[in-house]
Amino acid sequence: MFNEEHNLAPLRWAMVGGGRGSEIGHAHRAAAHRDGLFRLVAGAFDLDAERGREFGTNLGLDPERCYPDYASLFEAEATRDDGIQAVSIATPNSTHHAISLAALKAGLHVICEKPVTFTVAEAEELKAEAQARGLVFGVMYGYSGYQMLHQARAMVQSGELGQVRMVNMQFAHGFHSQPVEQVSSGAKWRTSPAVSGPTYVLGDLGTHIFYAGQFITGLKVERLMCHRQSFVASRAPLEDNAQVLLQYQNGAVGSLWASAVNAGSMHQQKIRVVGEKASIEWWDEYPNQLRYEVQGEPVRILERGMGYLAEGDNAVNSNRIGGGHAEGFFESWANVYHRYALAMQGAEARRNGTGTQHLGLSEQELESLWFPNIDAGIEGVRLLECCVESSDNENRWVAF
Ligand code: NAI
Repeated sequence: MFNEEHNLAPLRWAMVGGGRGSEIGHAHRAAAHRDGLFRLVAGAFDLDAERGREFGTNLGLDPERCYPDYASLFEAEATRDDGIQAVSIATPNSTHHAISLAALKAGLHVICEKPVTFTVAEAEELKAEAQARGLVFGVMYGYSGYQMLHQARAMVQSGELGQVRMVNMQFAHGFHSQPVEQVSSGAKWRTSPAVSGPTYVLGDLGTHIFYAGQFITGLKVERLMCHRQSFVASRAPLEDNAQVLLQYQNGAVGSLWASAVNAGSMHQQKIRVVGEKASIEWWDEYPNQLRYEVQGEPVRILERGMGYLAEGDNAVNSNRIGGGHAEGFFESWANVYHRYALAMQGAEARRNGTGTQHLGLSEQELESLWFPNIDAGIEGVRLLECCVESSDNENRWVAF
């Protein structure tokens, strides 16, 4: 069970981006601070340096440690005895690669937003740099901390569904059914190829549920085909709707629907895994429940925080408040940040040769600690590259 009791010094942590009015900055800070494992001490929060300084000061930071840009943040902090150890990057997509690379070169553990880069080659470069320096690289698939997704993973792995035959994934909201980019800066950059990258909804939404499918089933994608379009025509060449068919190496098949024009829908982020004996289904608007449907039996709704969930798994040990109470988005993110902290503390311990007993984890447990890492980031970008190649070539099948 997670609570705020631990014997670890909080990691000295900074943010790049996530400034005043940003969509996702607060989620990072709320999640990182939740268990007292990170302490925000510095940042370059905003493209507008003065607004960023004022914002950081209002968060309680030393004004001297609210920097005008990421380069001066990394440079100045490296000269301090109490300089930062880790940084989260919550800026628009086009900046992720350069900022992440600079952070790694400055010896910092990195948590970067998704899609982590524009190309697989760039993401591989970040992986190599992190590995060479013994640094942790997390990619912020924040929904992946939901406990019932981990219950789903445990059930697939223990064979309760039998062999997996189908994986249906979707993240299809309706908030951009009209050209809201005319008034919304967040929608504007998301629909601009120079900032968003080669995709819009596939990268913005599809990568989240694709990662859920990957870590629940462990299946490897063999090939895919993608059909994408912009129903709001001015968004072309970027898509506001996409459908992807997938074939997995074990013969299973899948589908992924990403959309921002699913009018009337709030999120509709769902995954259904169909096995030869049973199916499971999860929906992020009801995240504390997992449907378990055994062929020929009444439907069961499994509830978060209950003793019948997978023993010793993330489904159980991420529990914070017991069954019956609602946990949600912030807890999911905090669960991910909690594991980033443990992985980073482990990397620091390795570097200092101090052993890992103080983390309450053996070397082996640390090695197998789950968290969305750079490999998850790479696979997300590979999804996007393959989808673009398919849709640009009359929707042909593309090897993954
Ligand atoms: P936003 O446009 O709302 O905010 C971006 C923030 O970054 C602003 O404060 C801006 O001033 C700042 N910024 C931009 N360039 C900067 C730079 N070079 N240096 C310092 N600050 C800079 O964007 P939003 O929606 O918060 O998205 C940021 C990232 O987070 C994107 O990559 C997006 O895909 C991702 N995201 C992830 C979510 C998740 O669930 N994991 C949800 C929403 C966004």
